[in-house]
Amino acid sequence: MMESDKMKVTPVSEIVGAEVTDINLSDPITDDTKQALRRALLDHQVLVIRDQTLTPEQQVTFSAIWGELETPSNIEYTTEETHKVMILSNEIRPDGTAVGVVDGGDFWHSDSSHIEVPSAITILQAVKNPERGGDTEFCNMYAIYEALSEDMKQNIDGLYGIHHVSKVKNKRVTISPDRPGAKDFYENSAKANPEVIQPLVLTHPETGCKSLYCSPRFTIGIQGMSEEEADPILDALFAHITDRKRPFHYRHKYRDNDLVMWDNRCLCHRAVGGYGLPDIRRMHRTVIGGDRPLMLINRRRPKTRYSGL
Ligand code: SIN
Repeated sequence: MMESDKMKVTPVSEIVGAEVTDINLSDPITDDTKQALRRALLDHQVLVIRDQTLTPEQQVTFSAIWGELETPSNIEYTTEETHKVMILSNEIRPDGTAVGVVDGGDFWHSDSSHIEVPSAITILQAVKNPERGGDTEFCNMYAIYEALSEDMKQNIDGLYGIHHVSKVKNKRVTISPDRPGAKDFYENSAKANPEVIQPLVLTHPETGCKSLYCSPRFTIGIQGMSEEEADPILDALFAHITDRKRPFHYRHKYRDNDLVMWDNRCLCHRAVGGYGLPDIRRMHRTVIGGDRPLMLINRRRPKTRYSGL
């Protein structure tokens, strides 16, 4: 257990995650507390900060101490108070429109790996928990990288995954029937967004440790490889993330007033689901963007057959 002033940090599992108590994030955060939280995040990758009831503006103030906030791509699903806070919710208004993103995070992913500068940190406040279900699962991608065979490590060193946001471009995911207009949305986003490449092995810019950086949700190929060549590699890597025994994982069951904060540069996560109307889940999400494209942070000579970087 680690303490700063009164704040207590207690691991929730051996592999990933810690609970943080005795801190009020609506108070001004001192430099010492910020450093203690940063240390805890780097050590545990996910922090479950108990007993927080931040307004959307307060969530933005707390989030902004970690860096520049991303603006959600869909203003429609943000709070009235501020467009920096995205709503994830299954609630549907009487006119059939959704209050928030209904299918947010339903497959294993690292946030925004499909854009050139992916998200660094995500903060999720549980505003309304359903009676049952609604957990978030996390997977430690440092641990997965470490567990790969030396052959696999060598095989993927210097390779770049191809990432895309649209579900219609990804044969490993499905479109939730609960999201109004989802098929049109993903068809449009297939046309509107380019593919982005990211290193398959990421050296974390703050810890210097290596982690696997790919996900079933966003990684659809490997640069310079045919589908037939890339699929066995991706399937083998994804098998660790989706392993039913969950050896590298922590599953968070929300209590009222939990605020969860995680580091996307060394984690995959997914919203587990398992709830349905009239039971409502509502989360308020803020995201701190990365500061550089990951391929620049991880600049290394790609294997000669993969040119163009
Ligand atoms: C996310 O993927 O950012 C949200 C996860 C969740 O809602 O549990």
